[in-house]
Amino acid sequence: MKKPIVIALTKGRPLQQLIDLLARLDIRSEYDLSQSRKLVFPTNDRHVQLMVLRGMDVATYVQHGIADVGMLGKDVLLEYGGDGFYEPIDLDIVKCRIVVAGLVEEQPLPRRIKVATKFVEVTKRFYAQKGVQADIIKLSGAMELAPLMGLAHRIVDIVETGDTLRANGLEEKELVTEVSARLIVNKGSLKTKYRDVQGIIQRLAELSS
Ligand code: PRP
Repeated sequence: MKKPIVIALTKGRPLQQLIDLLARLDIRSEYDLSQSRKLVFPTNDRHVQLMVLRGMDVATYVQHGIADVGMLGKDVLLEYGGDGFYEPIDLDIVKCRIVVAGLVEEQPLPRRIKVATKFVEVTKRFYAQKGVQADIIKLSGAMELAPLMGLAHRIVDIVETGDTLRANGLEEKELVTEVSARLIVNKGSLKTKYRDVQGIIQRLAELSS
């Protein structure tokens, strides 16, 4: 029997938009992907399986060819810097920005600033390009707390509506980059499962154009 195509989706905020996009390709699961404790889901197409993972893990599973195809944020790809996959399509959904944010009422900044983020590589590159000295403090969540509590002068984080910044007395200071959801494809899968994988790429490309 032919091996199924495995599609890895990013859990959390992007998930519903990704599920809706797949529905437009007529790929549906009878499970509630956001609630179920399952991690691998069958679909109405017996040749297609879905996995739901954190963005970084989507990249890892596709790089290693366990998932053939992945859908994840460009923010993750900028940070991941991995190899082994192509990034053929901007899905043009889950659009947000990576920004530098700080307190609305901010003290003058020292020459060497402290920046808290989970996007360590993106932040390093951003400040290196500007020629600004920045000590980066890695956090995994609740970045907004860092300037509030005096851990860092600034944060680099994802902003969609800006509500979280506003609710914490923070504001956007600089745009780092706009980001959106991307399709990635394992290089080997594109060869060994060419028809199926290319079919998905083509149908998604038509939807996003
Ligand atoms: C992101 C980000 C902010 C929030 C911004 O976190 O870290 O906290 O969303 O969104 P807003 O501008 O619409 O308020 P997310 O909820 O994705 O969870 P995470 O911390 O797991 O990344």
